[in-house]
Amino acid sequence: MKKILVIHGPNLNLLGQRETDVYGKITLDEINKALSAEAEKLDLALEIVQTNHEGEIVEQIHKAQKGYCGILINPAAYTHTSVAIRDALMACPVPAVEVHLSNIYKREEFRRHSLTAPACAGQISGFGRESYLLGLHALGGLSAG
Ligand code: DQA
Repeated sequence: MKKILVIHGPNLNLLGQRETDVYGKITLDEINKALSAEAEKLDLALEIVQTNHEGEIVEQIHKAQKGYCGILINPAAYTHTSVAIRDALMACPVPAVEVHLSNIYKREEFRRHSLTAPACAGQISGFGRESYLLGLHALGGLSAG
């Protein structure tokens, strides 16, 4: 079975209580449950990690080179700052899709630029939980091809 690595970046463990006007009341656990249900339909196996540490995200991307068909990543705040995560994605032959709950292009100026998206196959931004599900579908198609 094709294996996808899902990486949730910093502060996403606080979903449900964090800036609910922006991110809604959905928790990370609820997102993960929806992802797992969708993965089952698509015949994909998921490994899901959340970390607040940049270096750990880099390590996880390195890990994905062996045995994984795709990476679904929400780098969260590191989207806008991390050359290290961008470089790790660039070095990784496995396709990645970047997702965001909020539409980063209609928020503050500093969020409107993603350092990491150019190292991904594509980006989905602004659809809440659906961003993740759409991203998983996109990856399923990419890794099948
Ligand atoms: C986010 C958008 C980022 O700008 C922010 O730092 C996050 C969440 C999103 O999913 O909308 O933590 O990645």
